[in-house]
Amino acid sequence: MRLALTYNVKDDSNGSGEYPEDHYAEWDDLETIEAVRDALKEKHEEVELIEADLDAYDKLRDLKPELVFNMAEGLTGESREAHIPAILEMLGIPYTGSSPLTLAMTLNKARSKQVLSYFSVPTPKFVVMENEKDFTLFTGNFPAMVKPLFEGSSKGIRNNSLVNSGSEMSEKVAEIIKEYKQPAIVEEFVPGLEFTVAMLGNGDGLKVLPLVEMDFSTLPDGAAHIYSYEAKWIYDTPEKPLEIFTCPADVDTDLRESIEEVCIRAFNVLDVRDWCRTDVRLDEEGVPNIIELNPLPGIIPAPECNSCFPKAARAMGMDYKAIVNTVVESARERYDI
Ligand SMILES: Nc1ncnc2c1ncn2[C@@H]1O[C@H](COP(=O)(O)OP(=O)(O)OP(=O)(O)O)[C@@H](O)[C@H]1O
Ligand SMILES: [Mg+2]
Repeated sequence: MRLALTYNVKDDSNGSGEYPEDHYAEWDDLETIEAVRDALKEKHEEVELIEADLDAYDKLRDLKPELVFNMAEGLTGESREAHIPAILEMLGIPYTGSSPLTLAMTLNKARSKQVLSYFSVPTPKFVVMENEKDFTLFTGNFPAMVKPLFEGSSKGIRNNSLVNSGSEMSEKVAEIIKEYKQPAIVEEFVPGLEFTVAMLGNGDGLKVLPLVEMDFSTLPDGAAHIYSYEAKWIYDTPEKPLEIFTCPADVDTDLRESIEEVCIRAFNVLDVRDWCRTDVRLDEEGVPNIIELNPLPGIIPAPECNSCFPKAARAMGMDYKAIVNTVVESARERYDI
């Protein structure tokens, strides 16, 4: 089968001063893109790399691959993750992963939470703020979480995202609007254990990988107990990996099953396909709440980088190449190709 791999790459040219330092945090390093290509090459003789830039449409139209492995996070805009799948849909080229609709919905944290709530999938209560004065719209309890409405990779989620008063909230909302040029979503803070849950497959064949549990008590003193930008990219370095993860999670069967069940429901109501990594946190009553879904999950190959999807796979003896090729198999099954 002739495959193509669509991606956005972080390189020296995109560290521009006009954007916040985390602007390209979602994009992949060349090492990750090459690792995915090598995995695909194991099973398919032709794998063409196609950068998801402004020429992507023409390149895909000329090449017409039989299947695209899509890991492109997108160039710009609030629907950026949907752009390559939309192009592929238009060209009639099969691709791995979720549809433009699902990718646009899950990038928008409010829209995806509205869908989850409609289907009674537990998720923290929230309000969207387009102005720093909107903090008066928040009627929940403090502390609260303030995040950019449509970002990932903890962009804009810092220790100061956990706020304890209206004035702290207003300040963080103003920062997000100014730096990230988008509204803020403010959520009730769910304080319990956090898990991130890798999933592979579709329908009856959907598999939940071993749960990754996070223990925030190992973060530096004074750090907010959240998986923030600092926790992901600053406190945690390949030289000194952060010891916050336990995989498989140390939970009893009932809790594990209730977490798995809520993740499967979230996957299905949002029409996610082939793979996903879902963040979950327990509320005061111990009920698993969906924080968000990542239908284009990060898969950094080096274990010391603590990328959670590969970490969960390793815990069940599944190597990196098998993750990538299982995603391809799931997509091929869907298209019957
Ligand atoms: N409502 C909440 N209650 C408790 N903790 C939260 C809440 N929202 C976010 N967090 C914390 O902040 C972290 C980052 O939030 P979130 O997952 O929404 O951001 P993201 O940038 O989309 O993440 P990713 O890197 O997984 O794409 C979560 O992993 C969790 O630790
Ligand atoms: Mg997350």
